[in-house]
Amino acid sequence: MKLRTIDSLDVAGKRVLMRVDFNVPLKEGRVTDDTRIRAALPTMVELLKRGARLVLCSHLGRPDGQVVDKLRLEPLVPVLRDALNSALALEHLAPLEVFLSPDVAGEGAQRTIAAAGNNIVLLENMRFEPGEEANDPDFCRQLAALADCYVSDAFGTVHRAHASTEGVAHLLPSAAGRLVEAEVSALSKVIDDPVRPLVIVMGGAKISGKLEVLESLIPLADSVCIGGAMANTFLAAQGHNTGNSLVEQSMFPEALRMLELAKEKDTALILPLDYRVGERFDNPESCELRPADGMQDGDVALDIGDATLEKYHEVIWEAQTVFWNGPMGVFEQERFATGTLGIARTLAAVSDRGAVTIVGGGESVAAVNRANVAGHLTHVSTGGGASLEFVAGDELPGLRVLLAD
Ligand code: 3PG
Repeated sequence: MKLRTIDSLDVAGKRVLMRVDFNVPLKEGRVTDDTRIRAALPTMVELLKRGARLVLCSHLGRPDGQVVDKLRLEPLVPVLRDALNSALALEHLAPLEVFLSPDVAGEGAQRTIAAAGNNIVLLENMRFEPGEEANDPDFCRQLAALADCYVSDAFGTVHRAHASTEGVAHLLPSAAGRLVEAEVSALSKVIDDPVRPLVIVMGGAKISGKLEVLESLIPLADSVCIGGAMANTFLAAQGHNTGNSLVEQSMFPEALRMLELAKEKDTALILPLDYRVGERFDNPESCELRPADGMQDGDVALDIGDATLEKYHEVIWEAQTVFWNGPMGVFEQERFATGTLGIARTLAAVSDRGAVTIVGGGESVAAVNRANVAGHLTHVSTGGGASLEFVAGDELPGLRVLLAD
């Protein structure tokens, strides 16, 4: 996939509308993880060095076209300002202020932009405006009127055909920022002629949200290791007792179809050999190992077991390319974190010996950070749904609009 990059834009003295994905977690009005903000800094700094004036836009949460006070971008301002100014200092550039425009677009936003001079403007949450998700042509025109060109660095949102991620790109000279470039280049290593063996590790609660990506990746992969509650659905569909574990009964036929597909394509689809179970989800004492075919009534599978982790470790150890999405269990609780953190450490180890290792999806990224191994991995994607849709081979609207001729 070849995208137009910011090298193609003349930005000196120009206003650049830059779509970022600052959909960051907040707790009591404070940003608890600034990864997505820091991920946009290289493009921001590069554009500023080339003389651009930046107007940033992002969504936060899903306010559904209405103003929701707790989803205002105010808490992001000091975090953005400090991160940006640290990055500018490294380049021996003067610090800048961040002006938050209370208006998403229109005359109010124009006034803030005029008052900001060469400083950064951050427009208020795009999704306060109904025209954003509707990709409304009028709203696209209002956004386009704010700048001379458009840069998308919001990889996490390229699967959305919204005004600020797709529509406006038709109206201005537009290009992909460095983050989008890096994401596309890294994730392409999974689907475009991957170095083999290619191992996919897929977890998370539900098979329903991952079916499309499984269907695309099973034929491509050499092995697929399944964990998380979605593994229960596979086991239950095969007739095993899964106790009180989370299963999606309506997905049994699809789970069986995936097993058939794997057989047909000669892909090893590997399910847990054992589980760590808790009888009661909230009982801190309860945590026992059970073989996959020996689960008892009342058991709730909350992590893969030791034999499974060992098996997955062996499979991943042979890989030259690994893509991981979705935790192996309820890793927020210490006693059910062994599987997920173990997978993170295994990925770091194979990465250190030269394999390509790519992680996508908020929870697996959180696990990688908790295991403190992000720096070992080839790529940690800022995209959740976007990274999955990309590896599923979908055409993503926010990328399609940036394709080079
Ligand atoms: C994400 O957090 O994955 C992106 O910001 C997209 O958010 P959305 O699923 O609300 O569109």
